Amino acid sequence: KRHFLSAGDLNAPQAADLLDLAEAFVAFNRQTSKTLDILKGRTLMNLFFENSTRTQSSFELAGKRLGADVVNMNPKTSSVAKGETLIDTAVTLNAMRPDLLVIRHASSGAASLLSQKVSGSVINAGDGQHEHPTQALLDALSIRRAFGRVSGLSVAICGDVLHSRVARSNVALLHTLGASVRLVGPPTLMPAQAERWGVTVHHDMKSGLAGADVVMMLRLQLERMQGAFVPSTREYFRFYGLDREKLSRAAPGAKVMHPGPMNRGVEIDSDVADDPAVSLIQDQVEMGVAARMAVLTSLAARLEAGQ
Ligand code: CP
Repeated sequence: KRHFLSAGDLNAPQAADLLDLAEAFVAFNRQTSKTLDILKGRTLMNLFFENSTRTQSSFELAGKRLGADVVNMNPKTSSVAKGETLIDTAVTLNAMRPDLLVIRHASSGAASLLSQKVSGSVINAGDGQHEHPTQALLDALSIRRAFGRVSGLSVAICGDVLHSRVARSNVALLHTLGASVRLVGPPTLMPAQAERWGVTVHHDMKSGLAGADVVMMLRLQLERMQGAFVPSTREYFRFYGLDREKLSRAAPGAKVMHPGPMNRGVEIDSDVADDPAVSLIQDQVEMGVAARMAVLTSLAARLEAGQ
């Protein structure tokens, strides 16, 4: 496919190939600050309609390390702030012939909509509560590096699953790679009929974390809870915040992940988040650049082939 919109776009061999490629980029990035010419002469546009620290900067770095010309459009200082629609913005930018468009938007489906309006490759960098496929890829890379495999592991994804595009993409990719997934969180923050995703659902951290190899915490997304149930952060931490005591239920050697940004003392205790013996959180950030280099490289090959 020309675009990368969903973690479900990847079958197991494609996902494994991307992880192998990303692994090679991890080694490359650690050895040198040189750039490659895989995307030489190509233009990458970052269109972040929602805030980002990790994803935007890692796509920018990934594009530059591969030799692309990178343009960052800031909606706050662009004509979006004057009321221009997503479609008009897309058609306008398309006239400048970008090869790769990376989009983050608050609306689920925005990346798919953009892909129907432009001639370049679209990469979904997070659309509403729908998907964040490159996050799932960097998470799988982090898990594979920590355990040597993803297949057969038990991953507990915990917290505000309802509003989490990270959870949806991770469930899809982890299943493709042969892991089993449990979702853990309060009923009010769990999608209706989440069991249909092929997961087990727990509302209690003790049972949800029991024997888990990976504990993936999610941010409480208060900005997506307009007028709905908003938990008290103190009470939330008591029942669903990850601390040593709750983590002790997981398997020996279990690893802790968080896509960031973290709400310390809300969904995760600093004592756990900052412990390099258990936390993969900084590895996840490093893997973000390599995983995105792999995705851009695979799309560049399709651009070359005219697919
Ligand atoms: N994990 C993630 O998407 O982080 P940012 O919002 O900082 O990009």
